[in-house]
Amino acid sequence: MTVPAFPNPAVDAPAPGGVEPFDAVDVIAAKRDGDRLTDAQIDWVIDAYTRGVVADEQMSALAMAIYLVGMDRGEIARWTDAMIRSGQRMDFSCLGRPTADKHSTGGVGDKITLPLAPLVAVFGVSVPQLSGRGLGHTGGTLDKLESIPGWRAALSNDEIMSMLSADGPGAVICAAGSGLAPADKKLYALRDTTGTVSCVPLIASSIMSKKIAEGTGALVLDVKVGSGAFMKELSQARELAETMVALGTDAGVVTRALLTDMSTPLGLTAGNALEVREALEVLSGGGPVDVVDLTVALAVEMLDAAGRPVAEDELRAALGDGRAMDVWREMIRRQDGDPDAPLPVAPETETITADADGVLTRLDALGVGVAAWRLGAGRARKEDPVQAVAGVELHAKPGEAVRAGQPLLTLHTATPERFARARAALADAIVVSAPDSSEARAAVARRRSGVVLDRIV
Ligand code: URA
Repeated sequence: MTVPAFPNPAVDAPAPGGVEPFDAVDVIAAKRDGDRLTDAQIDWVIDAYTRGVVADEQMSALAMAIYLVGMDRGEIARWTDAMIRSGQRMDFSCLGRPTADKHSTGGVGDKITLPLAPLVAVFGVSVPQLSGRGLGHTGGTLDKLESIPGWRAALSNDEIMSMLSADGPGAVICAAGSGLAPADKKLYALRDTTGTVSCVPLIASSIMSKKIAEGTGALVLDVKVGSGAFMKELSQARELAETMVALGTDAGVVTRALLTDMSTPLGLTAGNALEVREALEVLSGGGPVDVVDLTVALAVEMLDAAGRPVAEDELRAALGDGRAMDVWREMIRRQDGDPDAPLPVAPETETITADADGVLTRLDALGVGVAAWRLGAGRARKEDPVQAVAGVELHAKPGEAVRAGQPLLTLHTATPERFARARAALADAIVVSAPDSSEARAAVARRRSGVVLDRIV
C-alpha cells in the first residue's frame, strides 16, 4: 500500500560526484533579501536538509527568513511538493471506495475526530485518520485513545487497509508512519524550538504535505481561530485556509475548510480520558451541543467532498440510533481496545467556583489548555509521558448565567502537587460580568451563533 512517491533523492541518489548544486548560505540570503526562491533551490534545500547536508542552524535561518519575508503561492506549492517527495505516499485506490479525512489545526477540547470518523464510515466513505500526539497546550488524538484499556496506536499497512475496507469498520485512527513527509518531521521539530511555527507558508506546507502524502481522496480542514489556536485572528485563519485549500485542490484532493471558534474550549472537557468520555456521549446520541454541531458540520463536508452527500438529519439520526457507535466499537476492538472497559478516573480533583452572580463572558481556551497540560494531560517534550486521567471539566460555557459559589471548573490529576500551577494558568481565564453589560450580551450572541465562523471551498 505504501509506495515511494517518486525516485527519492534523499535515499536513492547522493548529489552527483558529491558536489551540491547550491550553497545553503546563498539560498538563505536570497530569501532574507526578499527574493523569490526558484523551484530548483526549493527542491535542493528540502532534499539536502533531509540528507543532513543542510544543517539545522541553516534551516532555522531559512525558516526565520520565510517567517519574516513570506513565500508566494508558487513557492509554497513547490515547498509542499518537495516535502511530499522526501518520503512515501499511501495509495488507497485499491479499496474501491471513496476516502475522506479531516485535519484540525489544533485546539483545546478538540475530540471531534473520535465521533466523526465512525459517523462518516456509516455512510460508505472510508476514513484514514492518521494522527499525532499532543504537544504543548493542544491535545493529541492518539493520547486520548490510549486512555482506552488495551488500545494500540501503531498498525501495519495491512491492518490499516483491512480496517478501511468494506469488510472492516471503514475507519481507522492510528499513528502516521515515519515514512510520510520525513522532511516535515525534521523541520516541524526545528520550528517548534526556533519561534517559526506560526507562519502561514510553513504551517500550510507542513499540514498539506502530510495530508497529500497520506493519499486521501477528499480532505476537510478545521482551521481554528482564537486564543487557543495558532491563528488568533479571523483574517490570518482565512489566509491559512485558502492557502491549504488551493494546495490540496492543485494536488487533486477535493479540499474544503471550515473556520471554527477556538476562543473557548470545545465541549465540556479538555484532557485524555475526559474527552473520550464526552465523545462516547456524542456517539450515544447526547453530548454538548457545540461538539455535536461541529461533528455533523464536518461530516456533511466530508461526505459531500467524497461525492456521497448525506443530509444533516440523517447524520444526527446515525448518532442517535447507535449506527456510529457500532462502527466505533468495532474500530476499538480491532485495535485491541476494550470498548466496554471503564475509563480511568483521576484520584484527585479540585473545583473552581464563580465569585459573583452574572453571566460567564470569558472562559479562555488557552488558559484551560495550559491548565490541562500542567495537570498532566499534555507533554512539553515529545518523549514525555501523559496522564490519561488529567484534565479540566467545564460546568458552564460563556454566555450562560452563573451564581456566586457555583462550580465552573473541576481540575483532575493523579499528582495533586500540580493543582497550584494549573490554577495559576486560569488566573485571567475566567470572567463573570453583570447580566445587563455589553460583554454579557455579546457572549450570549456568540453562543447562539455557534462554532462555525466561515466556510472556504
Ligand atoms: N500542524 C502541523 O502539522 N504543522 C504545523 O506547522 C502546524 C500544525
